[in-house]
Amino acid sequence: MSSIEEIRVEFPQLSEKVYCKPLVYLDNAATSLRPRSVISKWDFMSARLSSNIHRAVHFISGKATDEFEAAREETAAFIGATSSKEIIFTSGTTQSLNMLAFCLGEKKNFLRVGDEIIIGEEEHHSNILPWQFLAERKFLKIKVLPVDERGALRLEELPRLVTDRTRICCIAQVSNVLGLVNPVRQIADYCHAHGVLLVVDGAQGIVHCPTDVAAMGADFYAFSGHKLYAAPGTGVLWGRKALLETLPPYMGGGEMVGTVKWEGSTFAPVPHKFEAGTQNLAGIPTLTEAYTWAYRFRTYPELEGVKRYMLEALQDIPGLRLFGVPESPDEKVPLFSFAVEGAHHEDLALILDKMGIAVRSGQMCAEPLMDRYGVSGLVRASFTHYNTQEEAEYFIKSLQKAIKMLK
Ligand SMILES: Cc1ncc(COP(=O)(O)O)c(C=O)c1O
Repeated sequence: MSSIEEIRVEFPQLSEKVYCKPLVYLDNAATSLRPRSVISKWDFMSARLSSNIHRAVHFISGKATDEFEAAREETAAFIGATSSKEIIFTSGTTQSLNMLAFCLGEKKNFLRVGDEIIIGEEEHHSNILPWQFLAERKFLKIKVLPVDERGALRLEELPRLVTDRTRICCIAQVSNVLGLVNPVRQIADYCHAHGVLLVVDGAQGIVHCPTDVAAMGADFYAFSGHKLYAAPGTGVLWGRKALLETLPPYMGGGEMVGTVKWEGSTFAPVPHKFEAGTQNLAGIPTLTEAYTWAYRFRTYPELEGVKRYMLEALQDIPGLRLFGVPESPDEKVPLFSFAVEGAHHEDLALILDKMGIAVRSGQMCAEPLMDRYGVSGLVRASFTHYNTQEEAEYFIKSLQKAIKMLK
């Protein structure tokens, strides 16, 4: 593996300056930066292979289709899907989960009034609202799987929550606030023993946990490309093929049809049944380049040291409360959300910004979790493989200064 300097040159935004200071980008959980190879592929697809896919017999359309479908094969390999037919391209996790909730809602003989959906208390709004919409439309009941003070899901509550009316359970692989790796396999086993489908939101997990959907035991898995170095507006919904085949389409339009007649229409086989209309032609092929980086990063262990340093350094700051405290560092990805007594999260983020550090502040699209902990918002610093130990140390020093300024 190349040195950190060699890696960093490949991500052009890392050499930006803000307020005359080198940018320290610690907002990777919101969206990652993109490497040159992704930018080049994106540019190539726009500049040289602009053409609609699957539709025309001409040369350029064929080439563009090949690039698009190669990304599907690569995605299947990257997440351990048994077939590329299980890969549906979307605009991101949000669209994947909305599509899934809609389709499950319309699946024949699946949901009855009074059926139940279980959702983790730490979920992102994207894994709450689509299920709330579904519950309202179909008169279902939503139950919450709570987290404890540390942020761990309280699995011992499952026997109380799961009944013979429970149909779906929705859990993040890794929470975007707590950064804890959830015991998805254990939850999957419990769900399957009780006839419940498990939906896993992999928006954060896909970046830091080598993902094998089969080993994980999920029935559906969603993630976004833009958090994993690919172009924005790229995402995936994976589902077991036998299950996908039982779902009705989400949107109607070009390319998702078998035949269209006034008397009634038929639809294309999966996955095309779920990909109506013109797709993200330039963006989706960048996933292939993004996976190359993700594989490369798996052989680059430096981030582990940065994570351990951050865990200790943050907990040594007086008055700082870390949310998502792991029992062992292996249970956490390098994503740190915290509150500081007497310092508002937004003020801290604004001061850090002036020091060149980009972090997230606020509710982080997880308002129920903020309510659970009685906080109006948090600061979140999220690292990835191009971040360095020096950046982590600079962050801690800057945070200490910012806290002093506010107290
Ligand atoms: C856990 C989680 N789920 C869902 C989403 C939504 O992803 P997107 O905005 O890419 O659709 C995010 C984004 O922050 C997330 O962190």
